[in-house]
Amino acid sequence: MTEIRVLHDEAQFRAHTTVFRRAMHMGPPSDDDWKVVLPSYEPERVLAAFDGDEMIGTTQSYGSSLMVPGGAVVPHAAISRVGVRADYTRRGVLTALMREQLSKLPDPVATLRASEGRIYGRFGYGLAGRWRTVEVDAKRAVIAGAMTGRVRMLGQDEADKLLPELHESIGLTRPGQISRWAGWWARARDRKTEAENSVTVVHSGPDGDDGFITYKVTTDKNWKHEMSIKDFVCANEDAWRDLWIYVSRVDLVDQIEVDVALDDPVSWLFEDPRVVHTKDIFDEIWLRLVDVPRMLAARTYGPAEPVVIEVRDTLLPANDGRYRVAPDGVERVEDQPDITIPVDLLGAVYFGDTTFSQLVATKRIEGTRLADADALFAVPCKPFCGTFF
Ligand SMILES: CC(C)(COP(=O)(O)OP(=O)(O)OC[C@H]1O[C@@H](n2cnc3c(N)ncnc32)[C@H](O)[C@@H]1OP(=O)(O)O)[C@@H](O)C(=O)NCCC(=O)NCCS
Repeated sequence: MTEIRVLHDEAQFRAHTTVFRRAMHMGPPSDDDWKVVLPSYEPERVLAAFDGDEMIGTTQSYGSSLMVPGGAVVPHAAISRVGVRADYTRRGVLTALMREQLSKLPDPVATLRASEGRIYGRFGYGLAGRWRTVEVDAKRAVIAGAMTGRVRMLGQDEADKLLPELHESIGLTRPGQISRWAGWWARARDRKTEAENSVTVVHSGPDGDDGFITYKVTTDKNWKHEMSIKDFVCANEDAWRDLWIYVSRVDLVDQIEVDVALDDPVSWLFEDPRVVHTKDIFDEIWLRLVDVPRMLAARTYGPAEPVVIEVRDTLLPANDGRYRVAPDGVERVEDQPDITIPVDLLGAVYFGDTTFSQLVATKRIEGTRLADADALFAVPCKPFCGTFF
């Protein structure tokens, strides 16, 4: 019989990491590793499934914030460390964990990164945002003009101190972005230390520091050098352009690889747009609208005739209902619906990565007035988070 418990102490947290890592085919944390992992455990946000005294499954969340279309920022749960012991899978352990987690979350919305695409739809998570991995042929990459600001390289200690503050002061600039928690930075520092040759540069403009990137260059046996950009954060277009000028001019680099938003204008930055090649498109943000009325009210809507949307949510029935969405806001109504949609697909359209018109072809939503719904939910830019957790 599976029982779900909230964990409270360090010994339980360490067992939690071990169970999760084993599910991901990784070893338990060493004592040094544990010092880095421990700060990522936030009280009341850690759940485990037990069979008697045996811990058999895990999940947890980090408290964060998320920017939604229109620019509002809402409390957000970043869901992580989901795993079930291989000798207990397909017996409903994850289902029990997800039910408990969703019913107890203090935040109106949750996101996660999925190891496999088939896992989370049934729990109401929709594929809401994708990233594009681009490769830039650095030897042919020419950006006309000079930098408008300055780029400086940081030492490791300086970077460890400055980046969390700088990330916070830059704030969230695009729907889909999330704030980072103390444990995230601890892990990031650890990964950089492991990588050893990881480099951080900071951009400053007229108002001071306003962007940074962290990258690493690896060299293969044929003396080919590849720069992999791990973190690219900027407050404005000048910082974005200057940081690209910087990386495109680092010597001994043949290729630059980075994950960007689907609509990132990087191709147009270069004299020859063909130096940018899209290598892959992959799902990034899986979005769970935990409190549908609050999340529908949090975002803005484009100009169109109002549409009544009926939402179906088997796991959180308080969300079940009809919502009249109009340019000036959202209200719960009893009117006949124009569109009926399950909550995972409402998550999929929420950020505008896909549209009602596109989804109707899948036969997973029903309705009319799709053009109005598309216009209401239309967004000026595609969602992108850029913070892996
Ligand atoms: C993914 C995982 C947590 C699922 O745990 P679980 O306890 O087996 O899940 P449940 O038994 O509650 O499954 C619920 C349903 O989802 C399906 N499902 C769950 N995981 C699935 C997967 N990886 N592939 C296909 N279907 C899956 C089950 O078949 C079941 O369907 P049903 O209700 O129609 O029978 C577990 O397989 C695991 O730990 N995998 C490795 C680690 C991992 O990938 N973690 C996720 C990190 S994002």
